[in-house]
Amino acid sequence: MNAQENLTVAVAGGTGTLGRAVAEELRGRGHRVRVLSRRSAEYPVDLTTGEGLAEALAGCDVVVDASNSTSPKGAKATLVDGERMLLAAEEKAGVGHHVGISIVGCEKVPIGYYRTKVAQEGVVESGPVDWTTVRATQFHELVAGVLAPLARSGLHPLPKARLQPVASVEVAHAVADVAERPALRGRVEVAGPEIVDLRDLALQWRAAHRSRVLPVPVVLPGTVGRALRAGALTTDRADVRGTTTFGQWLMAGR
Ligand SMILES: NC(=O)c1ccc[n+]([C@@H]2O[C@H](COP(=O)([O-])OP(=O)(O)OC[C@H]3O[C@@H](n4cnc5c(N)ncnc54)[C@H](OP(=O)(O)O)[C@@H]3O)[C@@H](O)[C@H]2O)c1
Repeated sequence: MNAQENLTVAVAGGTGTLGRAVAEELRGRGHRVRVLSRRSAEYPVDLTTGEGLAEALAGCDVVVDASNSTSPKGAKATLVDGERMLLAAEEKAGVGHHVGISIVGCEKVPIGYYRTKVAQEGVVESGPVDWTTVRATQFHELVAGVLAPLARSGLHPLPKARLQPVASVEVAHAVADVAERPALRGRVEVAGPEIVDLRDLALQWRAAHRSRVLPVPVVLPGTVGRALRAGALTTDRADVRGTTTFGQWLMAGR
């Protein structure tokens, strides 16, 4: 299927890690991009109230929803109830394609945030607008963003967890490809180049930052621990595979 040219694309959460990269990628390809978020100067919207959505979506062809909230209350309000409100506003505005963002394997790890992501996928996939869901593995930014503050305490408590981190810019490239094509009414999986244990990722982070943080192996009990040890958040059948390893990303000084 040919990619569409000169689209008007709204990126909800366009000031976040993924959203910023998606907006930049789409602009670079010549599309008109609107950045939607609570603090966007251009299109301030609040997904928890629906404020600003009608104005922001008027005349848009495609919406990429890269918004996020990880607090227990905020996640449901933004990702599930907010998603319903966003889709209703898209239907009114005549948007032709909604690109949802989710997480590889989220249905296999029963923690609150992942349950919310599964619920969000359901809202999109049974919603009123033609859709494609892009599922990604953990971003390098997230892994580094968890390890850095922990290191300040001098300890890295590390459960055994097989992960497949990916550079957010590579996910953004795949999301832009999806946004340019007609809705699939299906999912596209994007994953990093290698499956690595969190303990090895932490050692790479430690070396790159010349840190003396002490790695402390911990055991995560129960279903969540078992799922992470078994690599529930990884895939060997990604539709798109990033090429930048966590080590290379660290070496580039991110
Ligand atoms: N991080 C990862 O490793 C990872 C991996 C796989 C998939 N994902 C998925 O990728 C998506 C983006 O994640 P991210 O880590 O890039 O997010 P992020 O950096 O936390 O950015 C979140 C964005 O959402 C906006 N936002 C939050 N609440 C809002 C509200 N009520 N109304 C409007 N905008 C709101 C924020 O802007 P304001 O604060 O200005 O509103 C910001 O632009 C999510 O669906 C996430 O599940 C993330």
